[in-house]
Amino acid sequence: MDKTFHIITFGCQMNVGDSDWLTRALVARGWRQTTEEHAWCFVVNTCSVREKPEQKVYSELGRLAAYRRGKPGLLAAVGGCVAQQIGQGFFERFPFVRLVFGTDGIAAAPDALDRLAAEPDARVALLDFLPAYPEREDVLHPHAPHPAPAFDADAGEPDAGPAQAFVNIMQGCDNFCAYCIVPHTRGRQKSRAPQAVLDECRARVEQGAREITLLGQNVNSYGLDSGGCGVGFAELLRRVAAIPGLVRLRFTTSHPKDIDPAVIRAFGELANLCPALHLPLQAGSDAVLARMGRKYDRTRYLGIVEGLRAARPDIALTTDLIVGFPGETEDDFAQTLDMMERVRFESSFSFRYSDRPGTASVRMTPKIDETVAQARLLRLQSLQNDITKETLKRLEGSEAVVLLEAKSRKQDEGPSFWRGRDEAGRVVNLRLDDAGGGAPDGFRRDPAGLLVRARIVEAKNHSLVGERAGQPW
Ligand code: SAH
Ligand code: SF4
Ligand code: F3S
Repeated sequence: MDKTFHIITFGCQMNVGDSDWLTRALVARGWRQTTEEHAWCFVVNTCSVREKPEQKVYSELGRLAAYRRGKPGLLAAVGGCVAQQIGQGFFERFPFVRLVFGTDGIAAAPDALDRLAAEPDARVALLDFLPAYPEREDVLHPHAPHPAPAFDADAGEPDAGPAQAFVNIMQGCDNFCAYCIVPHTRGRQKSRAPQAVLDECRARVEQGAREITLLGQNVNSYGLDSGGCGVGFAELLRRVAAIPGLVRLRFTTSHPKDIDPAVIRAFGELANLCPALHLPLQAGSDAVLARMGRKYDRTRYLGIVEGLRAARPDIALTTDLIVGFPGETEDDFAQTLDMMERVRFESSFSFRYSDRPGTASVRMTPKIDETVAQARLLRLQSLQNDITKETLKRLEGSEAVVLLEAKSRKQDEGPSFWRGRDEAGRVVNLRLDDAGGGAPDGFRRDPAGLLVRARIVEAKNHSLVGERAGQPW
């Protein structure tokens, strides 16, 4: 049997980070990552936060089943949030699925896949929640290729370059927001021991990472369970920021109710903490926020924004918004538009409310008509587009430091365009051959991971175009 695999990732950055780890763990065991056509084992890492990504999992498995007709030995593994939710149901529905692993079960998935490779009739389900953060084996592997997610529901531009590392600091969520399935699929909050976080961050920097993103469903409550060993999120940030050689530090996701004033201050104090914060607002009406169980109101949210801008005036704020939550009136929705105008988010992910099994809002009424919700979504997105355009336009002529990630996907702009991000996380497409030197010839090595000073020459709808304004360093 040929130990080749292909991972397909849906969902948030937690899933992207999990797929990255699984790739490295399998490569360390002698497996080879390959394309879909050549893989013997498919891993589908799934998301169930809304109905659409869940449905996508079934259609993807249906599509993969077609490969099996020519190669009867093929095996599939389903991991992540839909696996946790549906569990062994996958074995019945798709007989070529021989492994299901939940979000705590992933630590044992590489061994299980080794076993399945050796035992063609075996099936394994790894679905138990564990009482503490399940520390995974250390499989730092500098040469492992990075998995490119097929589709990314929440994290925006999914691809990351080799200089970017995602480090988990916690698992699960205790908030039980009324609409959200995550506490059901990821289990209770479990913070990872601070020493383990620091060790992994240090090792990743030693292996070439210049940017680290600390990941958790609600990083601001890091350490409030027993796993943090008395260290809170602000202190963890300080310790990670102090790692020599770390150029950029980011974190996601933040719940406004738990943001500590010390974290807000950190934006003004830690030089390598990037001026960007994703702070999900979800709704602009106090009544809807209360029914969602978010535990903050407009005033509190605006106060946090003011504090952040005082600490770091250039901070780029982004958010998540839901429209059509049960009972949302036209006036409630107007309050969401109003918050968008007041805060002027640089960008946002906005979603139509979707009933998820087992959540409190399933029983809330009245449900909002789909066409009404869709119309609200379009109005919200159109306002966001205008604000995004305006904020990006203001950056024309300014200078930015860009961390190069990969060749630009914009093929029509020519092979010399590279994609990277500025400090705030904005995508910058950079022409590298017009400021002397050229790319990649002008660089002695692969430009991915280099920091380049750039001048912003043009604002596009969702990204910036730059040209080199100095040597890489
Ligand atoms: N832990 C993060 C969010 C995780 S889910 C946080 O608390 O912010 C990502 C986003 O999906 C949420 O912010 C929310 O905007 C959206 N979402 C979650 N459940 C949803 C549902 N049932 N319907 C529509 N959108 C939903
Ligand atoms: Fe879901 Fe709320 Fe937890 Fe975020 S904080 S994962 S929205 S329950
Ligand atoms: Fe989706 Fe699970 Fe992340 S439901 S958003 S993959 S936590």
